[in-house]
Amino acid sequence: MNKVVFVCLGNICRSPMAEFVMKALDQDGSLHIESRATSSWEHGNPVHQGTQKILRQYAVSFDSSKSSQQISRSDFEFFDLILGMDESNVEDLLQISAGRYDDKIKLFRPGGVPDPWYTGEFEETYKLVTAGCRDWLQWIKDRQ
Ligand code: 4NP
Repeated sequence: MNKVVFVCLGNICRSPMAEFVMKALDQDGSLHIESRATSSWEHGNPVHQGTQKILRQYAVSFDSSKSSQQISRSDFEFFDLILGMDESNVEDLLQISAGRYDDKIKLFRPGGVPDPWYTGEFEETYKLVTAGCRDWLQWIKDRQ
């Protein structure tokens, strides 16, 4: 249970934020952490400026060359834990999985993380993402 992928709609706001926050929390580097999109809408585009700004503000290092990538069939096979950032991401993941990988797919937090693409609330997103990542890190460690 050490390969984790965070998934949102565009892979430019919430899931890359979770990816880099989780990498910062995973201090011993025991996890393989990435992020993906359910859609191809932002394919190849960089991390949203709002997410970049908040990561800089909280001194969370990130890969500035990270670009949006849609989740693939091989990702479903490779990752142990596939975390949808909101309920609609989980619904889309379950639809793509079509019963094959359902056990790996989970909601990031109860109620999900509202999309800052629409809300503009990157600070609130960061708080929810950080709390959720802490909980998942503990959940994973408890199972190792
Ligand atoms: P994300 O936010 O899923 O947190 O990356 C979005 C990014 C782009 C779009 C929607 C949500 N979009 O409509 O392109």
